[in-house]
Amino acid sequence: MQGEPFSLLAEVYDAIMSDVEYDAWADFILDLALEAGTGVQTVLDLGCGTGNSSEPFVERGLTVTGLDLSAEMLAVARHKLPTATFVREDFTTFALDQRFDLVVSVFDSLNNLLDPDDFRRAAERARHHLNPGGCFIFDVNTTVGLRNLWEDDRAEGWVDDVYYLWEHSFDERTGLAQVVAYCEKGARGFTEVHLERPYDAREVRALLAAAGLRDVQVLTYPYGRPATDETERIWVVARR
Ligand SMILES: C[S@@+](CC[C@H](N)C(=O)[O-])C[C@H]1O[C@@H](n2cnc3c(N)ncnc32)[C@H](O)[C@@H]1O
Repeated sequence: MQGEPFSLLAEVYDAIMSDVEYDAWADFILDLALEAGTGVQTVLDLGCGTGNSSEPFVERGLTVTGLDLSAEMLAVARHKLPTATFVREDFTTFALDQRFDLVVSVFDSLNNLLDPDDFRRAAERARHHLNPGGCFIFDVNTTVGLRNLWEDDRAEGWVDDVYYLWEHSFDERTGLAQVVAYCEKGARGFTEVHLERPYDAREVRALLAAAGLRDVQVLTYPYGRPATDETERIWVVARR
């Protein structure tokens, strides 16, 4: 069976991502916000998926809204985190009647935007939803990252009762990376095809400036050092 990106995957996403360091990412992000002088009470998580990236902020007593386009991912998130708010919206067009101290987006969610104009629109939307002085903090895979991590790579294994076989490739002609993600649980197997576009530091800086964001820092995880041309996934801090 073939599914739209992040539809059938919702059922097995948490099993496959069980070793992802969401907690440490949240601490890293909150430290960066603190260093930028932003007091954080309210958080908007762009591309919250099944809520894994929202959960540590909820656990730290913050008021969290998760935003995602996938109804299936959001259904899992709502079940898991009943005290958070979840909305089904697109990164590029969302309009909520609230502003936030912190807008985050983690685990290469913004790499799903295959057109840099859409990335700029998403950054504009993020800026619009920030309180003055608020921070937009996100990670994205770079070209080096998608080449190294996704070029002719094959990841296969079992997590609990879920079998997965994910085949990655990087198309030098289009500049896009692709994963053909096959998963099987019980008698049910399905495939989703996901595409990512890399975003490098220079382009990200230009797109954020065009979106009206300032004080941009492009950093590495986990020590927050400045990124280099070899950094595979950059962490970006920008302020309204
Ligand atoms: C790799 S998952 C990351 C989920 C979550 N942040 C995590 O860390 O587990 C990317 C998420 O971005 C969402 N997404 C992709 N494109 C989107 C768009 N244009 N608008 C809103 N959500 C989108 C997908 O539905 C998916 O849930």
